[in-house]
Amino acid sequence: MFGASREAVNAEAARLLDKLTHVGWTRAECTLLAPLTLRIRTLAAEKNAVILAHSYQTPDIQFGIADHRGDSLGLSEVARDTPADVIVFCGVRFMAETAKVLSPRKTVLHPVPDAGCSLSESITGADVRRLRSEHPDAGFVCYVNTSADVKAECDAVCTSATTLAVVEGVPQDEVVFLPDRFMAENLKPLTRKRIVAYDGRCIVHETFRGDTARAWREAHPDAKMLVHTESSPEVVAQADLAGGTGDMIRYVRNSDAKRFMLVTECGLSDRLRVEFPDREFIGTCSLCPHMKRLEMRAVLQALEAPTPEQVVDVPADVAVRARRAIDRMFELTSKQADATRPHSSPGERA
Ligand code: 13P
Ligand code: SF4
Repeated sequence: MFGASREAVNAEAARLLDKLTHVGWTRAECTLLAPLTLRIRTLAAEKNAVILAHSYQTPDIQFGIADHRGDSLGLSEVARDTPADVIVFCGVRFMAETAKVLSPRKTVLHPVPDAGCSLSESITGADVRRLRSEHPDAGFVCYVNTSADVKAECDAVCTSATTLAVVEGVPQDEVVFLPDRFMAENLKPLTRKRIVAYDGRCIVHETFRGDTARAWREAHPDAKMLVHTESSPEVVAQADLAGGTGDMIRYVRNSDAKRFMLVTECGLSDRLRVEFPDREFIGTCSLCPHMKRLEMRAVLQALEAPTPEQVVDVPADVAVRARRAIDRMFELTSKQADATRPHSSPGERA
């Protein structure tokens, strides 16, 4: 029970059930989880820690302990602006690293230090330096799903929500877009700039195929199909919306449709089932093995006594250069209308 009273556990179980019932959790399961979420939330308050969760995290993390859940852009803005002393990042390594770059004086904890990302691991800073010598006149834009080392070598960072604005905003006519091949291919029809692609892939989104997406459409003609831009152009061609996770949430919020097919990681469909219980989300998702490494006990352990690997560290010279590239994105997208910007959503305590 971690010292919590029966009344406190019952109240917490009721709070959890109110959310998690929409993704199949029972009262008994919520009662078992409640002492742990109470302990984590109490400890986070004592340490002035903010808990951030990406929308691909499991629903118990997103709705049980997170102060904010969101997409890469929204969470990096929270990490930049939070008054908390400690940031606990429930997501993958590059996200926690980005938080550290944006908040260098804060302690950033990543409970599962080896939860990586196939895109982030597809390219190194040395690869970018080599590409720069091959494309001396090009602008270099890298997706946020990269290490701080890679960001430090680029002119600007983008997220799935800011790709086009950043590519259009850099002055060069030729843009080397790193590292996601499919995102680069999906960009080409949207811009007059010459896009040079790299061969990074998301192991989750590359599994979706155009012919399968077409078959899903035919099987569910009344459902809106929302596709992440890390998917292939053949899959994107079937979409009612191609964008990032924040774009998908905004689309559902603003749509009159009742049924949606989300072609992305399963955590987002679960989040939306909780937040929009009057809508139906048809399961077409796939699990990210990296995102799903994170679990509640690791968060508790990291808050209680983090190991050195759980405390994110980015060398100061790398952090300064990576920060410059991330700030360039914020400058280039600050004029994007607020209504079209995906934001993180506050969790229970925010
Ligand atoms: P978003 O930037 O859309 O949140 O996505 C991050 C990610 O890892 C997608 O696979
Ligand atoms: Fe990386 Fe793909 Fe997982 Fe996103 S879903 S974290 S891009 S491997």
